[in-house]
Amino acid sequence: MAHEVRGVIARSKGTPVSVETIHVPDPGPGEVVVDIQACGVCHTDLHYREGAINDEFPFLLGHEAAGVISQVGSGVGNVKEGDFVILNWRAVCGECRSCLRGRPQYCFSTHNAQQKMTVDGVDLSPALGIGAFAEKTLVAAGQATKVDAAAEPEVAGLIGCGVMAGLGAALNTGGVTRGDTVAVWGCGGVGDAAIEGSRIAGARTIIAIDLDDQKLQWAKGFGATHSINSSGMTNDEVIEAVQALTEGNGVDVAIEAIGLPATYEQAFFARDLAGTVVLVGVPNPEMRIDLPLIEVFGRGGALKSSWYGDCLPSRDFPMLIDLYLQGRLQLDRFVSEKIGIDEVEDAFHKMERGEVLRSVVMI
Ligand SMILES: NC(=O)c1ccc[n+]([C@@H]2O[C@H](COP(=O)([O-])OP(=O)(O)OC[C@H]3O[C@@H](n4cnc5c(N)ncnc54)[C@H](O)[C@@H]3O)[C@@H](O)[C@H]2O)c1
Ligand SMILES: [Zn+2]
Ligand SMILES: [Zn+2]
Repeated sequence: MAHEVRGVIARSKGTPVSVETIHVPDPGPGEVVVDIQACGVCHTDLHYREGAINDEFPFLLGHEAAGVISQVGSGVGNVKEGDFVILNWRAVCGECRSCLRGRPQYCFSTHNAQQKMTVDGVDLSPALGIGAFAEKTLVAAGQATKVDAAAEPEVAGLIGCGVMAGLGAALNTGGVTRGDTVAVWGCGGVGDAAIEGSRIAGARTIIAIDLDDQKLQWAKGFGATHSINSSGMTNDEVIEAVQALTEGNGVDVAIEAIGLPATYEQAFFARDLAGTVVLVGVPNPEMRIDLPLIEVFGRGGALKSSWYGDCLPSRDFPMLIDLYLQGRLQLDRFVSEKIGIDEVEDAFHKMERGEVLRSVVMI
């Protein structure tokens, strides 16, 4: 039997979100319905509401979620009713040229549920193909990854987006390893997760860079060994400050977790010879960079970007939850507050004011 449940909808560009009754169909082949327990508020939800992703309103927001499988469609083998799952926005296809080469983490053809959820008979666009500020949501079975149910939903859900993006930027894309020096630009949820990932990997120096002292203070809790408040500093001054903390050399891995040309340039030049730059912050389509090509060549190393931390949910989600349950991964620190489903609009404003790392909607 299909369901009528409450969900957080963005109706049009820039207008406040509203809690409305949505229609969630029974799962078709390869689909599952999930009872959502917790869903973090991510910057991307706000980007959707602002029309910065696309114009396919109305959106069902929320995509950083954990819950329990309540119904499975035909042909579903990876999960069953009652499983505790984290939702992911890259369900790999197993058939594209990247999957067939044994690189499913870069799958070029990830998929979502075929059927649509609706509001007043109008098709909803679920944020990142998930839509989890709702009591129930419909996703492709591959978007649900079973993890140990001993983890609380409010921390487990965080693995579904920002925390995975940051951890993976350090661990997977950047390949941070024991003894490395690392700098992270932007200490929001994503940047702090990159710091946490660098700490876990055994980096010896982890430099946090932000404009906000409170953010830098939190970054130290995740394992930053040094911090730079770069407000009012020129690009050159930031680069020199990073070099001064690394015996004049710059860092092995420079992670940009904001999405701005200026901070990308700082990362590029604050990197040691043969070092790696990882761009995990999302730029807007108008942004440009201008770098001397001879420096790109002469410094060697790698310039990489990181989508979802180059994660493979089936490999990484259960592993990260195990590390959390063993006390080796700090997830609790990301949860600034737990809120109700009708407080998402307030949470967007707190995010804009920089007051929180993550507000988590408990459902
Ligand atoms: N690549 C991915 O798969 C992926 C996934 C999730 C989020 N993201 C992106 O990661 C970025 C960070 O997300 P978040 O949730 O941590 O955002 P956030 O807004 O919480 O954090 C950004 C931080 O950058 C700091 N900052 C802003 N301008 C700065 C500057 N010029 N110099 C230094 N610090 C500056 C802010 O003070 C803030 O602490 C966003 O662009 C987001 O869209 C990427
Ligand atoms: Zn694929
Ligand atoms: Zn997100």
